[in-house]
Amino acid sequence: MAEHNQNIVWHTAAVTKEDRRKLNGHGSAVLWFTGLSGAGKSTLANAVEQRLYERNLRTYLLDGDNIRHGINRDLGFSPEDRTENIRRIGEVAKLFVDAGAIVLTAFISPYLADRALARQLVEEGEFIEIYVRCALEECEARDPKGLYKKARAGEIPEFTGISSPYEEPDQPELIVETTGQTLEQSVDQVIAYLERSGVIS
Ligand code: PPS
Repeated sequence: MAEHNQNIVWHTAAVTKEDRRKLNGHGSAVLWFTGLSGAGKSTLANAVEQRLYERNLRTYLLDGDNIRHGINRDLGFSPEDRTENIRRIGEVAKLFVDAGAIVLTAFISPYLADRALARQLVEEGEFIEIYVRCALEECEARDPKGLYKKARAGEIPEFTGISSPYEEPDQPELIVETTGQTLEQSVDQVIAYLERSGVIS
């Protein structure tokens, strides 16, 4: 344990996660969207959140670009910084699960070990890893922010898929292909999984 943590004692709250879930009338979980830049993580996570909101469920979306403007503004894209990025997001997601919400996270989260750590922070069944799968060539053709072009030109170092690795999930709860099906169909797929696994009814 780090020295500065030695005099800190964990407090057990009087109101529990179960109490908050009961109040909300539904379960809580992390929907962890992972995939290449341009694969459609944010688009899908946003659309899923909208659908959940319409069903009166309490949600919160943590999105890569936005979080990097705030809580993680000190982090770049080196392997160490990405690991710290995901560690913090994992911890924040855990708090939201404890608060009784369905939290959606949309980060590249390129390393298997980092995602495994985030999974371990919450309880069994609370971490739903959704691989937003899209071929690199397709992501590069879409290039919504023009970042692949810059990366190819050597203007962005350590760009995922080009000069930095993306480690595919080996056992994700769900794989969503963002080519060959509509956004609505992808959302249906996620919602169906949540119903099947009992997170929502
Ligand atoms: S990570 O790997 O999980 O820590 O990345 P994340 O926090 O999701 O941030 C990814 C978004 O940052 C932009 N960006 C880069 N992505 C990958 N590699 C490099 N070097 C890089 N530099 C900037 C990019 O817009 C990513 O957004 P998405 O939505 O994934 O396209």
